[in-house]
Amino acid sequence: MHSPVSRHAPAARLDRMLSPIHRWIWRDHDRRVQKLLRFGETETDGGRDLLRAAELTSDPLLRRLYLVHATDEQRHGMLFRRRAASMLSARPRRDVMSTADLSTPSGHGLDDLEVDRETDGTMLAFLHVAEKSAASRFTVYRDVLRSDPDTQRVFDDILRDEMFHMNYTLTQLVRVAPERHRRRIWKARLTRMWKAYLRLASALAGVIGGVLLTIYYFVVLPPFALLAKRAAKNENGGWMPVAPERNKSLRRQY
Ligand SMILES: [Fe+2]
Ligand SMILES: [Fe+2]
Repeated sequence: MHSPVSRHAPAARLDRMLSPIHRWIWRDHDRRVQKLLRFGETETDGGRDLLRAAELTSDPLLRRLYLVHATDEQRHGMLFRRRAASMLSARPRRDVMSTADLSTPSGHGLDDLEVDRETDGTMLAFLHVAEKSAASRFTVYRDVLRSDPDTQRVFDDILRDEMFHMNYTLTQLVRVAPERHRRRIWKARLTRMWKAYLRLASALAGVIGGVLLTIYYFVVLPPFALLAKRAAKNENGGWMPVAPERNKSLRRQY
């Protein structure tokens, strides 16, 4: 049996600070299944993007590394799905799909990748930042999953690969862009932060919009409804004679 990688895996300070929230999220069986399924999907998608990156690069070493990386991501996807399936068969879901909205974004973020538009340098910088973030998140998830050793083992296994991905992308970035690798990493970090901000802002805008419409419905609309009701009371029902000045020929428009 291999030892856990916690002593070597890095967890960003923010991720460590959010541990109680992650613990709360992972505590629930159905939510855990839902998150594992989502992770499985993200990892498999990431694997597909890396296959495309291997096709596009003209660097033979990068091509080989991308292919190994793609195989790893495919395996991660399978491990997550398999674990979710065994949890489901052990205890059938109540309503797994309804918990989707409560899930936090998956750790990887490879879904932001636009493979066809990247150069080797920008691709490696993007991958390095995404893998570092995944390693950080997965370390925290693994640590908060003490009550579920089987899921914890899955993260432990995957973390080893994420550490390798994080390291090889940096080494290769330094090789292909020795002068600019720091700038590339910062640019990738800022782009990632900007996309995260946009996601958060649009989610927040949805919530604020909902709250404002509810306030309008209960505070602004009732006086108008009251006035309309009052005006309706003063109206006479049925047909009413038209005033002679308005009752002229219908042949003209005015
Ligand atoms: Fe992965
Ligand atoms: Fe990875």
